[in-house]
Amino acid sequence: MTPRKKTAILISGRGSNMMALISAALETDFPAEIALVVSNVPEAKGLERAAEFGIKTATVDHRKYPGDREGFEKALNSVLHENGIELVALAGFMRLLTPYFVNAWANRMINIHPALLPAFKGLSTHERALEGGVKLHGATVHFVSAEMDDGPIIIQGAVPVLDDDTPETLGARVLDIEHKIYPKALELVASGKAHVVDMRVTSGGTKRSEDILICPAD
Ligand code: GRF
Repeated sequence: MTPRKKTAILISGRGSNMMALISAALETDFPAEIALVVSNVPEAKGLERAAEFGIKTATVDHRKYPGDREGFEKALNSVLHENGIELVALAGFMRLLTPYFVNAWANRMINIHPALLPAFKGLSTHERALEGGVKLHGATVHFVSAEMDDGPIIIQGAVPVLDDDTPETLGARVLDIEHKIYPKALELVASGKAHVVDMRVTSGGTKRSEDILICPAD
């Protein structure tokens, strides 16, 4: 069996996507092993949850590097290298990364964003989707590039936007699909199936898993 890719998850908060990745990687034939969880926030709830699953955790507190983004990222990079990390998955990691860090992990770092990119980059995506009146919303996993919420798209999941949705109900529907697509994306990347050519990802997926999603449905 090919060795599993040693993966670090970077978080800042509760870590529900982190948990989806940890759960998927409990299967011994999953191509990634979650070897480390790192947070920039010492009190992030996700750190406790990871530790409960016996996963090594670390904190690199960005507040210890005022005005020195690269110093923070160098410290983060050291922790990743000390632990032999090969892939990085950002899961609610609320720090913008500089080209130094992004280039160091080019094609080896992925992120999940709660919208169908390239629509609704940035924060408050569910509010903006409702304001925009879109009928389909969703989530995207992409390779990280130096631009925020940008980079080759690996997988997307769409959900309907219903007439009576609030940001909370829509956000909960999107979060469900995030937990489904993030493990699939990590599987594609860790198994070497996701190839980036001209900023587009191909992954040999020829099967259609679901019917076309149309909303309103009738
Ligand atoms: C998710 O909505 C993710 O898409 C975004 O930040 C949120 C993190 O939530 N990048 P969680 O910590 O994974 O529960």
